[in-house]
Parts: sequence; structure tokens; C-alpha cells
Amino acid sequence: MSKKSSDINKSIAEEYSRRDILRYFATSAGCFIVPASATVLMATTRPAAAQSNFTFPQGVASADPQSDAIVLWTRVAGTKGPTSLVTQVARDADFTEIIAESTTTARPEFDHTVRVLVTQLDPDRHYYYRFIAPDGLASRQGRTRTAPSPDADRPLKVAVFSCQDYELGYFTAYRRMLLDDENGSETNSIDFVIHLGDFIYETARRPESMQGGNRGDGRTYLRNRDGSRRSCTPLPSGGEQAGRVWVVPADLPDYRALYKAYLADADLQDARANYPFVQTWDDHEFKNDSWQSYYDESSSPELKVAANQAWFEFIPAALAMGGRDVENHQAADFEQVDVSDRPPEAFDNHYLSLEDNNVAAINSMTIYRTLKWGQMAEIFMTDARSYRGPRGFPQELLTVGNHPYPPAPIDPKLIDVLNAGRTALNGNPPNEIDYLGQRMPNPRKNAPFGSMLGSQQKAWLRDQLSGSSARWKLLGLSVGLMRYGFDSSFRDDGFADGILWTDGWDGYPVERKELTRFIREQRISNVVSLTADRHIHMAGVVMDDFDSENASPVIAEFAAGAICAPVRLTIQNRIVSHDAELAALVQFDGTAHGYEKSVMPSMNAWMLYGAASARALHDGKTEQEAKKLENKLVNRHLSYADADAHGYFVAMFDDEQCNVEFVAIQEPVELPPEGTAPIRRRVKFSVDAWADGDKPVLKTTELIGERPLCGLRT
Ligand SMILES: [Fe+2]
Repeated sequence: MSKKSSDINKSIAEEYSRRDILRYFATSAGCFIVPASATVLMATTRPAAAQSNFTFPQGVASADPQSDAIVLWTRVAGTKGPTSLVTQVARDADFTEIIAESTTTARPEFDHTVRVLVTQLDPDRHYYYRFIAPDGLASRQGRTRTAPSPDADRPLKVAVFSCQDYELGYFTAYRRMLLDDENGSETNSIDFVIHLGDFIYETARRPESMQGGNRGDGRTYLRNRDGSRRSCTPLPSGGEQAGRVWVVPADLPDYRALYKAYLADADLQDARANYPFVQTWDDHEFKNDSWQSYYDESSSPELKVAANQAWFEFIPAALAMGGRDVENHQAADFEQVDVSDRPPEAFDNHYLSLEDNNVAAINSMTIYRTLKWGQMAEIFMTDARSYRGPRGFPQELLTVGNHPYPPAPIDPKLIDVLNAGRTALNGNPPNEIDYLGQRMPNPRKNAPFGSMLGSQQKAWLRDQLSGSSARWKLLGLSVGLMRYGFDSSFRDDGFADGILWTDGWDGYPVERKELTRFIREQRISNVVSLTADRHIHMAGVVMDDFDSENASPVIAEFAAGAICAPVRLTIQNRIVSHDAELAALVQFDGTAHGYEKSVMPSMNAWMLYGAASARALHDGKTEQEAKKLENKLVNRHLSYADADAHGYFVAMFDDEQCNVEFVAIQEPVELPPEGTAPIRRRVKFSVDAWADGDKPVLKTTELIGERPLCGLRT
């Protein structure tokens, strides 16, 4: 992978004067650098196209604000060949004070998407931008903003989102954010949006599976406001059939088609046009539960490259940044590579497959990177998919009992051993393990330990954390660090904190402990993890050692539920439906016990108070009665679990505090009246900034609206 030299930056400054209208063709990857001018430019007058062949069907977007630069994005349609687009950046929404105007080329090899890095901007202010097609047709205008200057201590306000399944729901959560922000003051508005992945789901529904009733529940496609079907199929290639329900992308045009379908959504377009986005991916931008270029038993470097290219084309991000700040900046733009599908082989000591095609595929683009917000915050956006080893729960075991997930909570110590591989028990891994009452050979006895971040990204993160002088160090993680224990201690072979979810850090406990100990030993304070993935709102703290009786918190963590993918309740119920005793701990029939809703969560209680409390709710006991049955060994680090909430959270950081507001919206399966986004509740938390060597304390400060049933530890 080519790293751009800092000389490029210097030469740009020398070659062009600030008064010029500039363009610099940064790489072959359809990225442009456009320096702003100190003086206001005369807006180029063009005849407005009365009838244009061109459209901007995915709107406009901006990304990765820096104190002097911002990335702008669009895609132009209605053209086959290379097409010139004029980018205009103005200080005002009327475009009377244009400070950058430059021509870039939308190229067919990048599906006519463009990325423009506008530099030499003023810090901490809003800018407005638009793109103009060759016949004068202008795109909608976007609003964006720069970060404060490096020495400023201005507060930061971000909104955190994840998990949007276009076919299964509406993007009402974005509308809620836009409405809330409209009502707030300019100084208190959201600075940027963080999206932590599952921006698309590669699992589109086969039309026949919907019309016949998805899973027998009679589901049909949702419809957009204009009457169009909320469907991603047919994919251009026809896609690949995956099971009874899904069709998945088979190539680059298929992935592109998914992004185009998602980005046709009006709420998402409005959000992207109003705020810069800062994004990483999770698994569904490529394949469910993927690791490196693999998923399930399949090797797919070819698809990984296609998925990377589609992300690069449709998700603006300051990756190579034209060679700026190369010291701290690891990310790099997409570079086309030819690969073929080969099985993994020759693992390094972090379980990275050194097989050439895998290495080339994951190195085709690098997205982990740092963003600075003055002195207030540094945001470390990580990639928890491209370098991870297989999860600490081998596929071989998941087929025992023919179940795709652990059928019941499993011993965290077993995962410790499996995740550690040959390094388990100080290099003396056991020959055999016990699983589901069976004694069997240890499938990881000779394997390397399974890393989540990979050795290079981990070294980068440690350097960034220990070298940061920012007030707040924010981790952008697609999967959460907290342990999520599930109480099965009512069974002879049960555990107070058994593990069910092994695709996140609970399947990678060795490296989690490495990271948390590093933070403790280096006395790094004010680390906050912003995460998502589980389709459930959660708040808590990450302990330095979840297995120690003297564990101490080192990180505050907030996990966003889904925008409109199925809530945890629905997913978890499906996963444990074979086991009536466990299913009772997930949900129950509310109408049988005087609740308005038929599906009520016992799962919040399971996670916060344990199995007896959850069972009590299921059996019709009140919340107070249920809480009295609390098992105090369960998830003491967790303060909030809201298993049937869709939505997002907003986090504000100032000198003294981090304040977080979770927003739970009405289930987004119906279109609310235009310009509305009905809300169920807001739950607020605060964490005081803590001194080096001290620890985070999470406080619940307010609940507005409907109570989450046993969802708050109070
Ligand atoms: Fe998701």
C-alpha cells in the first residue's frame, strides 16, 4: 500500500497560491484536493438546466471534519463517460460568498462518485456546498462544518447511529435527530454524526420470500412515501441465493446497487446533507459475521475487494487525505487489486492469514484513523473486521447440536482458552475441552491467539491513546467492549455470566484484557467507547479485568441500538426459541399480564438483574417484585439495557462532563406523518471527567417517557 509522503503537502502549498481556484488530482482513486481561497470568488454563472439529463440521486454528503479541511461527496447519474462536476463551497447558504470552486471528474470506474477534500478552510464554522453538472444542473446544497482549531477547547456534540436495514424499516431515527437539532440553538447543535457500521445489510430479501410471508409471518415489502417498494432486489447480477430468505451480492455492481437503494431514502439524504459523517463499518458492509476476507467456511477475497470499493465510493471519509498528516494517519484510499478466492493459510501470531489474496484484499483500503476536535476530543475510528482472527468460539463447536449460535450461555473461561489458542494457560493449552456436556479435542490447541484489531492497528491504537493530550479519548468501535453476561445459574451446568454473543469482544477476551490493562497501567483517563452492533441500547463501564473480584472500570461505554434493523428482543428470541426456559428470559406475552403490548422484554431484567428477575416478569410479577430477586453477580458494570428500543444516542463532551442521551423512537415499521418522528423515551447519563489513575462513574440523570421494563439499574 502506498503511503503518501508529506512532501506532497508541501508541494501543494508551494505550487498554488491561495488566491487561485485550484484543483489537484490526488490519486487515481477519484479523489480531489481543492484549497479554499482567502477571497470571495465570483460565482460562475451558468444557465440553469431547464431539462437536464443529469441527476444526483443519492444526494450529497460530507465527512471527517478537520480544523482546516472537509471531505465532500456526491454521485452524478445520467451519464456514461467521465463527467465534469463543479464543486462550490460557500460561507453562506445563499452562495453569495463562494470561497472554493473547482472542476473535478466523476469517473465511470468509480460509478460516477467523487470525493473532494477542501483544504485551507477556517476552523470551527459551517460551510455550504453543492455540485454542478455540465449543463448547469445543481445538486441540492449541503451544509457541513470544520473542527475547531487545534488549541481550542470547544465542546463536542455527536450523534451515534448504526444498523439500518432498509427493507425492514424506515430511517426515522435520522428524522428525529434533525427535528431535535432544528429546535436546539446553533451553539448547541450536533457537530457530526458517527456511524458505526451496518450502513447496508448485504442480506436483501428474495421477493418470493416476502410475498409468501417472511418466516411465515406474512411480511410484505414496506413502501416509501412516494409509493415505491422498499426493496433492494433484483440485484444486477441476480445475486447469490442464501437460504430460504436472502439474496446476497455476488460482485461490485451488486454492492453498489445496495448503497444506491439505501441512499435513495429521504431521511438519510437529509442527515447526510446537514452533518458531516464519520464512519467505520461492521460486518454487513461485506458479509455477516465476517473476519478478514472470510465468513462462515468461505474464503472471499474477491468479494471483500468489491465490498471495500463500494464503501469507498459511497461513504466519504478522509482516508489518504492527499498525504496530509502522514505521521498519525494510517488510513489509505482504495486501490484496485486482482485477487482470487483461496482458503486461509500461514497465520501470524495474531491469527492474520498471510495468504496473499487475503492480505491484498484487506490491504486494498485502510479505514482506521484519528480525528481531532481541538483540545476537547480525539476520535479513534477502528476497523474491527478486516484484521480480526476467527471468533473465540470455533465454527466446529457451533455445529455441535446443529445450532448456529451457542445454544445456551457458555463458560467465559472456555472462551478464554479457545481465544488464547496455543498461548492458553501460559503456553500449556489443554488437549481437551468440555462443551455441551461433551469432552472433545481442543480445536484451538495449536492455533495463534485470536486478535480483534490485528497487530498493526493495535499498535496504532496504543500509540494514539498514550500519546493523546485531548480531554476525551473516544473509541469508535463497531462492536462493544463490555462483557455481556447471561445468567443461567438456575441450571446445574449454568453460569451467572455465561456468554451468548461471541462475535464481539466477548469472543476476543485476550486482547480486550490487553487493551484495558494497558489503559489502566498507562493511567489513561477519560476514555469513552462509542459502540453499537447488538441492536439494543446499553450503557455501562468496561472493567480492566472482567474475571477479577477486584475489577475496576477503565472506560465508559455507550452502545447504540439499531436505526431499523430488528431489535435484540426479536433476534435473541429466534436464537433461543429451541429452549423454552431461556426464551422466557427474553420476552413474554404482555397482554396476559395487563401490559398494552403483546411482546414485552424480560431480557432487560435478564441482563441487569439475572434470570430469576426475568422469569418473574415473564410469570406476571411486577417490576419491583422482579428486582427483589436480583442476582448480584450479573453484569454489575451495566447500567442500562433496552432490548426493544430502536434509535440512536447523542453524546456531548465538555471540560467537565460527558453527557449522553439515548433516544428510543417508535418502532420504525410505519411511516410517521411527514416531518414527525414519534418518540418513546429519552434516557440520560452523565460521566464526570476523571483524573489519571481514577475511574469513570456512570450516573443515570433523567428518564423522559415510557419506562424501559427493568431496563435501568436504579
Ligand atoms: Fe447490525
